[in-house]
Amino acid sequence: MKRPKITIIGAGNVGATAAHWALSRNLGDVVLLDVMAGIPQGKALDLLQAGPVDGFCWRVVGSNDYRDSVDSDVVIITAGLARKPGMSRDDLLAKNVEIVKSCAEQTARFSPNAVLIVVTNPIDAMVYTAYRISGFPRQRVLGMAGVLDSARYRTFLAAALGVAPRDVNAMVMGIHGDNMLPLVRLANVAGVPVSDLLDAETLAEIVRRTQHGGAEIVNHLKSGSAFYAPGLAAIEMAEAIINDGKRVLPCAVWLEGEFGISECFLGVPVVLGSAGVERIVEFSLTDEERAALGESEKIVRAQMQATGIG
Ligand code: LAC
Repeated sequence: MKRPKITIIGAGNVGATAAHWALSRNLGDVVLLDVMAGIPQGKALDLLQAGPVDGFCWRVVGSNDYRDSVDSDVVIITAGLARKPGMSRDDLLAKNVEIVKSCAEQTARFSPNAVLIVVTNPIDAMVYTAYRISGFPRQRVLGMAGVLDSARYRTFLAAALGVAPRDVNAMVMGIHGDNMLPLVRLANVAGVPVSDLLDAETLAEIVRRTQHGGAEIVNHLKSGSAFYAPGLAAIEMAEAIINDGKRVLPCAVWLEGEFGISECFLGVPVVLGSAGVERIVEFSLTDEERAALGESEKIVRAQMQATGIG
């Protein structure tokens, strides 16, 4: 049997951390690609030398050449500039669209059957870019953010409740931006609604903090943005694909009528398996939730247009 192969484009903090999680979870062979000479090679060699201690036996190589990525099963695009304090994800759009275009072109050329996971910001516009440029079917082009945003939401809920984060079930839909939609109605702890356990004011503060979760970290770091949880979120998605896990995870996908929205990337719950997006899990939203999703949609449509790709 062929060993699963994961290419991570961009050997910055997010890419290198994703490689680390992928190896540590024994997902498969990892190729860390970057345009910077030496950086992917150095980081890959460092990771490889963690193998005897951590116990993973998968190969990891660093490269500046897409030929090393040939026939990857999953390609994760992290390449691009990161946010600085005061910079919105949208400020990055023009710069990163060119980078993601090239990553998507090369992926289509060298790994025509891969599932593409896009992490570069602004994620919803970048996943649209990768979708259009790769020409891949919508099942095989996904944006990471729902898993990350939901993890932040679950973290804050768990802290407020004093319970284990893994027992908190909660989901964030919509854009990866300030208008994202952390669903309060569906959030629960082992099935018990959080609205029975926390007051409305606490919940509103948790929702607000989740919506600004990325900026909170950028403000601490001063230069650069989050990478541990973003790297792991991408690997959680890759693992569901490689292991045909049928995991239900919120991901940015191209909608064709689901939730009443067409031809737009938005974060919604999907079933992830070896084919990529196997199904979109559609359910009824309240009028308020639908209106909030509509706000996300408006902003993503403007971002998609700003990419200049028809
Ligand atoms: C964040 C980046 C990935 O939310 O946008 O940390």
